[in-house]
Amino acid sequence: MSTQTVTRFSRPAGRLEHIKPSPIRAIFDKAAAMESAGEKIYHFEIGRPDFDTPQVAKDAAAASLGRGEVHYGPNAGTMDLRTAIAEYLQDRRGTSYDPLSEVIVTIGANEAVFLALMAFCGPGDEVIVPVPAWAHYQSCIRLAGATPVPVMLDAADNFRLDLEAIGAAITERTKMVIICTPNNPTGGVATAEEINQLAAVLEPTDALLMSDEIYADLVYEDARHQSPAAVSSLRERTLVIGGFAKAFAMDGWRLGWLAGPRELITPALRVRQYTTVCAPTFLQPGAAAALREARGDAEAMRREFEVRRQAGLQILHGIPGVTVSQPDGAFYFYLTYSPEIAEPAEQLALRLLEEQHVAVVPGTAFDPDGGTHAIRISYACHIDDLIEGLNRVVHTFTKTTTKEA
Ligand SMILES: Cc1ncc(COP(=O)(O)O)c(C=O)c1O
Repeated sequence: MSTQTVTRFSRPAGRLEHIKPSPIRAIFDKAAAMESAGEKIYHFEIGRPDFDTPQVAKDAAAASLGRGEVHYGPNAGTMDLRTAIAEYLQDRRGTSYDPLSEVIVTIGANEAVFLALMAFCGPGDEVIVPVPAWAHYQSCIRLAGATPVPVMLDAADNFRLDLEAIGAAITERTKMVIICTPNNPTGGVATAEEINQLAAVLEPTDALLMSDEIYADLVYEDARHQSPAAVSSLRERTLVIGGFAKAFAMDGWRLGWLAGPRELITPALRVRQYTTVCAPTFLQPGAAAALREARGDAEAMRREFEVRRQAGLQILHGIPGVTVSQPDGAFYFYLTYSPEIAEPAEQLALRLLEEQHVAVVPGTAFDPDGGTHAIRISYACHIDDLIEGLNRVVHTFTKTTTKEA
């Protein structure tokens, strides 16, 4: 692992004080080293599809490049892509946005999160984040100068949104509440009833709601995604995060969106004007083509994820001391395990890699306190690798104890 050299010039800004290197780093570095030494690694740590981008999207981007569309575009994105996003949201989520003033095309969903936080949250503001959660929220909240307020969700309750705990965490300093459904890392999907309850909890407050819906198209069996923005009493306080990375296998394109009422989008656009300026021009026709013409490809990928999910659940079912949270959406299994059967997550992840060549993410990446005995497994990999790698995980849990380690 690389150690950082400190010089008299390298003192970072104070805002980096609480931003720690990711705990996944050790796993990534080691997996990369093993792979370059020729070892086969089962990649369960990666949160991106193994599929190729739909051809129609590639063709449209190539055609745009061919037409010489290589210059700066509008700050909020091309009107055509904004229109495609608004139509998509209307069709799939039942939410209505004016493409002219209520949608920004962002550099991945990541930038949408960043713009929203930079536009609305600063020193003295609190942002409530139910955990376990995607680690970027906490870091971006800190970069914005605000304070993350984690609300611990209960493993025994499948990490369902705890509306009472969220309500109890709200103070006069609460500027925003962030929810992510379907969830990374747990795969949990909030029900329509829970979203209605959230509306009731937020009703007496001025808190904004950030709804990260990047996995909205990836739900399985009877689960249904409910966008809070489709609930009329929530719409005016909700900023919706979305993107192309997960459902359309376009993570490397780095495109996403921020949608919300004009009053919330206008300040976010001001941040955009002084940061990334605009998304790459010639990629945007490709993204619009994906939304309009590749819904069938996306559905085929979703069905393949569903097959893997089923195969994975069968293998993981009934391991003594291990609980798999209900994975109704996204493409992750979140396993919590008893300290009796294995060492803490960061050590276990290293051992899984060294002994079984399986790369997973320790739960501490999503919840530093509650995730000490949890791991996240992504099933966005080939089914043969999934089956072999999961059998290796099961072997590790069933053949060893902390004492042996
Ligand atoms: C919950 C969540 N939100 C947002 C993102 C960022 O997506 P993008 O690649 O579009 O920036 C990710 C990526 O892993 C994610 O898991």
